Amino acid sequence: MPRNEDNARDEHFWQTVARRYDVEPGPINLENGYFGRMTHRVMEAYQRNIDFINRSNSVHVRQHFDQIGIADIRADLAELMGVSDQAITFSQNATASLQALIRNYNRLQPGDQVLYSDLEYETVKSALNWLERYRGVQVIRIEHAHPASYETLLASYQEAFVRYPRLKLMALTHVTHRTGLVMPVQAIVEMATEHGVDVILDGAHALGQLEFDLPTLGVAFAGFNLQKWIGSPLSLGVTYIAPERLADIDPDMGETHFPLTDIRSRTPHSTPNIPALMTLPTVFAEHRELGGAAGKGARLAYLRNLWVSEARAMPGIEVLTPDDPRLYGAITSLRFTRQADQQRMAERLLNEYNLFTVARSGSACGPCIRVTPGLTTSAQDIDQLIKALAELGG
Ligand SMILES: Cc1ncc(COP(=O)(O)O)c(C=O)c1O
Repeated sequence: MPRNEDNARDEHFWQTVARRYDVEPGPINLENGYFGRMTHRVMEAYQRNIDFINRSNSVHVRQHFDQIGIADIRADLAELMGVSDQAITFSQNATASLQALIRNYNRLQPGDQVLYSDLEYETVKSALNWLERYRGVQVIRIEHAHPASYETLLASYQEAFVRYPRLKLMALTHVTHRTGLVMPVQAIVEMATEHGVDVILDGAHALGQLEFDLPTLGVAFAGFNLQKWIGSPLSLGVTYIAPERLADIDPDMGETHFPLTDIRSRTPHSTPNIPALMTLPTVFAEHRELGGAAGKGARLAYLRNLWVSEARAMPGIEVLTPDDPRLYGAITSLRFTRQADQQRMAERLLNEYNLFTVARSGSACGPCIRVTPGLTTSAQDIDQLIKALAELGG
């Protein structure tokens, strides 16, 4: 097996990977961050599972799936994530997991402080704002310096921890959806722990794209989805709670289907997308065949570097995401500095160059265009982006 870095630049190998997917003719998709495609093999398994569950209905689900099927699938996911199966439970998406963690975190007293930065996802921010209204805590909002570096990121948290001694809880996004910045999670969590601050990690973009080990990161609470970079059907999320911290999260809305000591009581008990869950063993097999997070991540970072190394030198383009390899993965954002309207520039990329990207705003560093290659993206697609940026930015 070649090293991930060598494999990442092997266009022939990635063409064979691309052939595992059905791709609708049309624009070159450089907005693969919304959700991932399923491979043919996953699609076929999913379709078979839909047909089967539709035929067998509750007879199979009550007799087999609810008893052993789901337990095996959960154990498979735990193995993939390198954690105990007692530490994870399925949810519908990352938002559901993160909101349940925020809503049910039971260590806050009125007057305590909770923190988020400008780079967090909107639903995470609104959930923390909700705590302010319903739990009487104070929300501390920080903005990261731009351009960000490893040191500035740590410094802004260090400063907040010193300045706000009543801080108890913070949100942290592993891979920020606006600029693709990868946060130095382990170092931030270490600092937070020293100051008695718990971290809820938003791992929506991280799982399957970055290699990481939750216990090493020191994270006690996290929410993920499986549809972005693992390649599952839509509608699957995962809540992680370090087993020794389970008591710090209440059962969701008084949930009683499972004992207090069972993490499954920390998400709403409802009928899930059973065929999607049943497809997960195939999803994990495909994920591993593509090299897992290490192989996928190396390819995506290689494609990212192909365009960023050219765009950095273009006078009318600002690349917002730093080149420190600790701080980026697939996603990187840019701004046309000579044009004010980035939404309009995203439209021009589409209309004039057949490139599909997405404009993003809301972070302190201002509006931008997010570029996210995927597993079907070729080096040739990236050449088209470089050409477009040189011509439109110049
Ligand atoms: C950083 C981040 N957090 C959370 C989410 C929400 O994920 P989900 O759609 O699985 O709820 C997203 C989705 O794009 C995201 O980018």
